[in-house]
Amino acid sequence: MQLSELITSIPASVTAMMMQKGREMKAAGLDVINLAGGEPDFNTPAHIIEAAHQAMLAGDTHYPPSHGSPALLDAIVAKLERENDVHVTREQIMVTPGAKWAIYATLAVTLNPGDEVLVLDPSWVSYGPMVALQRAVPVRVALPSEDNFRVTADLLEAHVSPRTRLIMVNSPNNPTGRVLTLDELDAIALVAAAHDLYVLSDEIYEHILYDGAVHHGLAARSGMAERTIIVNGFSKAYAMTGWRLGWLAGPASVVKLARTLQTQSVTSAASFAMTAGAVALNGSQDCVREMVAAYTARRRFMLDALEEIPGLECAPIQGAFYVFPRFTATDKDSLTLSRILLEEALIATTPGVAFGQAGEGHVRFSIATDMDSLERTVERLARLVPKI
Ligand SMILES: Cc1ncc(COP(=O)(O)O)c(C=O)c1O
Repeated sequence: MQLSELITSIPASVTAMMMQKGREMKAAGLDVINLAGGEPDFNTPAHIIEAAHQAMLAGDTHYPPSHGSPALLDAIVAKLERENDVHVTREQIMVTPGAKWAIYATLAVTLNPGDEVLVLDPSWVSYGPMVALQRAVPVRVALPSEDNFRVTADLLEAHVSPRTRLIMVNSPNNPTGRVLTLDELDAIALVAAAHDLYVLSDEIYEHILYDGAVHHGLAARSGMAERTIIVNGFSKAYAMTGWRLGWLAGPASVVKLARTLQTQSVTSAASFAMTAGAVALNGSQDCVREMVAAYTARRRFMLDALEEIPGLECAPIQGAFYVFPRFTATDKDSLTLSRILLEEALIATTPGVAFGQAGEGHVRFSIATDMDSLERTVERLARLVPKI
């Protein structure tokens, strides 16, 4: 029987595929180190779990307001004021089941078939397919690896057409670990204003920063509040990937339409997850600082260790929890490299090309895993890379 041509044309997520392959090999008894995924190895901090537990016991188990509970909307309003210098009302926010749905909803309500979206390349694996799911066209803006994936107005301008509607931005970036500078943000703002474009600003890694790097939001740049949709969530900062809790904040017209979409699709995030989310945002941020301190030590270890391995070149990442080295002594493509790493060194990774053509030659390793696994990874890489 006939199936959707659109969905049939969408590739499955390479990250999910590599994670699954790693899991299967592990289940078969192989000593696989799984660095393919993008999730903290920490459990959700106890006070957040306790808040959800208490909420459920108190009867917070019914349909919540579709767009988010008043307590969580208020917590997000306060967080945006406090941390991002962004001033919005509750009506400009929608709570979603995960940041991923916030991205999907943003694209669904801002695009029409045939519209074009600038996707900075390399970027997270789901951006392109999510644009395609709107019958819109992802236009990849290849950022040069040799210039540490720097964004310039000229590069963006070269890809704008009369059909361009939106630019997707992610800083700190998955997979490159880059944090956009004020100059780069101004370049994006300039192009967005010149062509009257929306900007989707995915800030999900905003708290995971190293070496004094500072996260600046796009919405706080001059003239950007009315065209920026901020996407954020709880998965990374609070180790809450399984809770499926995220949000978007932006112009009231965009959010109003997104709220309509939500009532007619996923309905809402889980009620007690929202209650816990408000506690996460309003409470002490020590738990975030503790997790970032662990990532900082792992990052230092990985960067120092990879530097010692001939044939690998790794820029000092400024944020998120991935290293994205380039394999400099081989012309094998990144899919082949990832396959060799899995089959010959039992390390599951994500090939750079999964993030777009500009990621070719690179492989992404998650550092959101314990130090022992990272030490074993480095030992295996030191043995294998010179032979590739
Ligand atoms: C850049 C980026 N945005 C969004 C998400 C989705 O986060 P969530 O778990 O809240 O859906 C991820 C998850 O890997 C990500 O890497």
